[in-house]
Amino acid sequence: MTWRDFPKVELHLHHEGAAPPAFIRGLAQEKGTDLSAVFTEDGGYAYRGFEHFLQVYEAACTVLKTPEDYHRLTLAVLEESASHGVVYSETFLSPDFCGGGDVGAWRDYLAAIESAAEEGERKFGITLRGIVTCIRHFGPEKSRAPAICAAETQGTFLRGFGMAGAEQVGRPKDYRWAFDCAREAGLHLTCHAGEWGGPDMVADTLTDLGVERIGHGVNAIRDLALVDRLAEDGVVLEVCPGSNVVLKATGDWPKHPIARLRERGVKVTVSTDDPPFFHTTMTREFEGLERAFGWGEEDFAELTHVALDAAFCDAETKDRIR
Ligand code: ADE
Ligand code: ZN
Repeated sequence: MTWRDFPKVELHLHHEGAAPPAFIRGLAQEKGTDLSAVFTEDGGYAYRGFEHFLQVYEAACTVLKTPEDYHRLTLAVLEESASHGVVYSETFLSPDFCGGGDVGAWRDYLAAIESAAEEGERKFGITLRGIVTCIRHFGPEKSRAPAICAAETQGTFLRGFGMAGAEQVGRPKDYRWAFDCAREAGLHLTCHAGEWGGPDMVADTLTDLGVERIGHGVNAIRDLALVDRLAEDGVVLEVCPGSNVVLKATGDWPKHPIARLRERGVKVTVSTDDPPFFHTTMTREFEGLERAFGWGEEDFAELTHVALDAAFCDAETKDRIR
């Protein structure tokens, strides 16, 4: 059975990381930018390991220059996601790449993305909401401007704040100002942790930043007391198995911790992270889970239910989608 048409909810997707390579190559040509080092001979993204992946990601971002570029990107991403049965999606947006952290410029990018989301909903039947992310390896000082951008523009579309980037940089408490700012503005919170960091990083992220969801969180499996805390507190993990396998954050599919986390009562969801970088789609994620763990219709219905419950959109939007 193909899971392509099965209704899916995706909570963890990086907007630029979802850009089809052909789209980025087209923009590079239009703008006369040489991005040849970013692509493999067969047209995919070329990188070696996580650190280099982040560099290639940021190089690809250099041709996404204007709000109009983001409008086009958003429509391309929505068409692709909807073609894999995704009915609701949350995307990470970085003011650092959209106007350099300036609130006025950010408003223009956000307006372009939001108008594309409305168009995409009409055309493809998929609902999109945004989560602003700061970039961890840009350092704690640089986490403040994205939080202010998020606080100034939160509303029906912009629902949350989070942090992506190299988990090796700093400790969660170093970024507390940004998360406090976003929380006080009424935004929902999530943060990448336990993708590269250990269980202590997941625990400190929960304690020091007060997030509701954790991006990845898979290394929590190394501390069963923490796993039980996640289960008891109903913390939702945005797990991206295909990303973890390709980047070697975890072992191969049969060894991936998602099944053990779920069996121990943790609320897990499934997402693609940066799908073209990892040669994945939501359909492929479901196929991988079926192959590795024998998951089927009931399991996937539960995943979708958990994800929609944990979505950052308002209750009316959830009711409409359910
Ligand atoms: N930014 C884009 N993808 C990411 C990942 N998997 N981990 C951390 N930051 C990211
Ligand atoms: Zn991510």
